[in-house]
Amino acid sequence: MDSVLVLNGPNLNLLGTREPDIYGSETLDDIRAKTEERAAGRGLSVDFRQSNAEHELIGWIQEAKGQAAGIILNAGAFTHTSLAIADALAAVALPVVEVHLSNIYRREHFRHHSHISRQAEGVICGFGSESYVLAVDAMAHVLGRNGKTRKASAAKATRAARPTKKKRS
Ligand code: DQA
Repeated sequence: MDSVLVLNGPNLNLLGTREPDIYGSETLDDIRAKTEERAAGRGLSVDFRQSNAEHELIGWIQEAKGQAAGIILNAGAFTHTSLAIADALAAVALPVVEVHLSNIYRREHFRHHSHISRQAEGVICGFGSESYVLAVDAMAHVLGRNGKTRKASAAKATRAARPTKKKRS
């Protein structure tokens, strides 16, 4: 079973009590449970982690190479500041789905720029804890698991890549 690394950055350990009007009242453990449930339904396992330390997040991204099929990342405020996390993502070259609870584009101007987005297949933000569930769906889509096995979609891609036979004139 493919494993997806779900990384959470600074202050996300405080979910439940942290600015609930913005981030909702669910805890990170609640979100972990939702994420794992959806992932199981998609044939994926989840390695769900949180750290307040930039270097720890970078270490986990580096270790993901060869272990995880992809990374779902809510880098918290590091989203807007960390070239080092963006560089780590570029280095491991795994599919990344960027996720945020809040709609960062509806908030302060300094939250409108993300260093992560350039390294991501796509971004999901603004749906509260549901953003994580949608991020699992997005990752499953990226990994070619939307109802199909990876083998089936690989076979389809091979067929599509075959040169078409020339018609005899
Ligand atoms: C966040 C948005 C960031 O701007 C903020 O710094 C966070 C949480 C979100 O999930 O909405 O810590 O990533």
